[in-house]
Amino acid sequence: MNRGYFITFEGLDGSGKTTQLRHLAASLSADGYRVVTLRQPGGTPLGDRIRSVLLDSRSEDDLGGIAPEAEMALMFADRAQSLRQVILPALAEGAIVLCDRYTDSSEAYQGAGRDLGPERILAMHRTVCNGVQPDLTLLLLPPLHSSLHRARRRNDRHAHQHGTDENRFEREGDLFYTRVYEQYAEIARREKQRVVVIADEAPIATIATCILEVVRARLPETDVLAQRRDRPQTL
Ligand code: TMP
Repeated sequence: MNRGYFITFEGLDGSGKTTQLRHLAASLSADGYRVVTLRQPGGTPLGDRIRSVLLDSRSEDDLGGIAPEAEMALMFADRAQSLRQVILPALAEGAIVLCDRYTDSSEAYQGAGRDLGPERILAMHRTVCNGVQPDLTLLLLPPLHSSLHRARRRNDRHAHQHGTDENRFEREGDLFYTRVYEQYAEIARREKQRVVVIADEAPIATIATCILEVVRARLPETDVLAQRRDRPQTL
């Protein structure tokens, strides 16, 4: 069976990960790879519905809040659906899958941010995701204050234009985000082989180049290269 390559992007809200994912997708597509992108929560019809419940600030009033355990379970329901519908089929076809957030987000946000503890998240991951882990995780971890400043500015702009927040999580205070940040740092220390940390506050293009170098250096170990060679060449 072909085995593609599974890459996740992680980081705080406002860390620039989504922009970097788009850059990497464009570069790898231009190189001739088949690239599949998605985000979590979301990325499937069910996931998009779960996302709107989880991220809309109106859920606080309309639903009487979301219990931390319910939040964790919904994140994993979304993940299970995207594994079955998108990620595993794409990997089986030898594609490169770029996913904006995955289980590390649950460990950082629900495990540490909501204080559920990392162990419960990792146990859920083993059960729901069958332990499927990315081949590579790009963790964008610029200093906490700069991510927060960017995320809150974006959220205020969105609230002003649309009458509601872009993201319920961005209402959280500095203590919540300090716990999230520290858990990400802990994941990086624990999983040195899988997680590459980009802590610089360099311009977008500089970080994009650095990420592309990291990914290109790792791809030759995998089937995706063979997949690429099989494609007809266009002149
Ligand atoms: P984003 O798509 O803009 O990154 O927003 C997703 C939000 O959902 C972000 O604030 C982090 C949060 N989140 C969790 O709390 N746990 C998770 O497992 C995932 C995937 C996201």
